[in-house]
Amino acid sequence: ELISKGNHRHYMLKEIYEQPVVVAQTLKSYLQRMEDRVSLPVPDFDLSAIRRVTIVACGTSFYAGMVAKYWFEQFARVPVDIDVASEFRYRAPVMEDEGLMIVISQSGETADTLAALRHARVEGQKIAAVVNVPTSSMAREADLLLPTHAGPEIGVASTKAFTCQLAVLAAFAANLARAKGRLDEKAEKELVRHLAEAPAALNAALAYDESIESMAHLVAGARDVLYLGRGPDYPLALEGALKLKEISYIHAEGYAAGEMKHGPIALIDDQVPVIVLAPSGPLFEKTVSNMQEVQARGGKVVLISDYDGVAAAGEGCIATITMPKVHPLIAPMVYAVPVQLLAYHVAVAKGTDVDQPRNLAKSVTVE
Ligand code: G6P
Repeated sequence: ELISKGNHRHYMLKEIYEQPVVVAQTLKSYLQRMEDRVSLPVPDFDLSAIRRVTIVACGTSFYAGMVAKYWFEQFARVPVDIDVASEFRYRAPVMEDEGLMIVISQSGETADTLAALRHARVEGQKIAAVVNVPTSSMAREADLLLPTHAGPEIGVASTKAFTCQLAVLAAFAANLARAKGRLDEKAEKELVRHLAEAPAALNAALAYDESIESMAHLVAGARDVLYLGRGPDYPLALEGALKLKEISYIHAEGYAAGEMKHGPIALIDDQVPVIVLAPSGPLFEKTVSNMQEVQARGGKVVLISDYDGVAAAGEGCIATITMPKVHPLIAPMVYAVPVQLLAYHVAVAKGTDVDQPRNLAKSVTVE
């Protein structure tokens, strides 16, 4: 094989560990650190005229898009519509003038996403493509190419492509915000500084690998696992559940923490591990209160948080993972690491084929 696993047992683990470097590489081409400004390729259409964004993707790339929706709406105040590519075309989506479609894809070849791009093209949308393969079909057909610099990703379950997608999308959201006069220089500098902290924070998150490995047995025996998160970290709960399903074959669901009481709480008993993603920030208390609802029903909680009092907040949890303190902007990137590592170690504990999980393909080029 052309690309070696280095010292790692699997490509997936190697790719998880590459994240600080490849995210730094990616950010380098989107941030101008001399003045702390975002610097993106200038499209041949007027960015400031964009009135609506539609994000379409599949799988892990779709969850990167879900995080990006928060950023585009928060920074640029542009409404964002998001859909999985396989649904998008078939629901007669309303595509208005001055609309921008963003497709997100590691391979740039996923059939459903490519078909969505072509549909939007016919409907007069401008197209931006966040892809990891710059020679791919999506890259060629887009008006604005925003490459991730993750390098080749071999493990079927996407890891480093995801964090690089987030890096590009955060810079793009800031860029659009600036074009629309929604981001002054001071706010832009601050945002860039926070983004630039991501590689070091990813590194710090990797330091918890061993402690995550040591708790893998808590999840490996489970039949069902629940992941909870809020705000931009809700898509991370979905991504955590997807990673676990993909490579360990354990049934897992991601849920918005506040929505749990409308259904999944009925599943909770002492056999169901619940992974709670709770970065400190405005939503922390609310997530903790959802966590306590789970505990009151005997649920076995694993708390992942950077909150100072994580030990106290995590009272009654079967495990806590104390994360490095990070700005909420980069939390979705940094919290990707523990959910990837947890899925990885659970899969290894179960003895599944981590890099080539059954029934899955790296790139799905059929509808
Ligand atoms: C497949 C892979 C996933 C990936 C999805 C989207 O299902 O197994 O890991 O997230 O395709 O792929 P893309 O190349 O479009 O990001």
